[in-house]
Amino acid sequence: MRTDAVDGGVVFAVIPLRNQDDIVRARRAARDLAARLGFGNADQTRLATAVSELARNVIEYAGSGECRIRDESTPSALRVAVSVEDHGPGIANIELAMRDGYSTGGGLGAGLPGTRRLCDSFAIVSAPGHTRIDISLSLARR
Ligand SMILES: Nc1ncnc2c1ncn2[C@@H]1O[C@H](COP(=O)(O)OP(=O)(O)O)[C@@H](O)[C@H]1O
Ligand SMILES: [Mg+2]
Repeated sequence: MRTDAVDGGVVFAVIPLRNQDDIVRARRAARDLAARLGFGNADQTRLATAVSELARNVIEYAGSGECRIRDESTPSALRVAVSVEDHGPGIANIELAMRDGYSTGGGLGAGLPGTRRLCDSFAIVSAPGHTRIDISLSLARR
């Protein structure tokens, strides 16, 4: 798995994604960091849901991968950043994959578009052999 020397922030957890239990681990770790930083319950749930959708896609479409959870907070804002990465086949058509209802796996096709709506930032880089999705949740400090 590629290391993320260029990623900012402090690494809170690195969760290998190989099976269903790992999806739960990733989901919990993301919620845990959000809670520790002071995000409210609704935000914790938003992030946990997003991470679980992305981790599920890794298991389903790539077989395995990795989830990295970072604290990217600054003096002015709290920020949880999560990258979910795999070395699977890649997303053939990102524009299509981001549409509600589009699925190559007989799913609901709501995972990626739903995740984008839940998060404050969302970015995909994908090619055959490597897919990386970055999401984050931010909250201005009072
Ligand atoms: N990590 C991934 N690797 C390859 N393809 C992916 C990955 N994640 C998503 N996809 C593609 O994007 C489509 C849409 O994903 P999603 O919105 O989660 O819906 P669903 O999982 O229900 O199909 C998937 O059907 C699949 O073709
Ligand atoms: Mg999905």
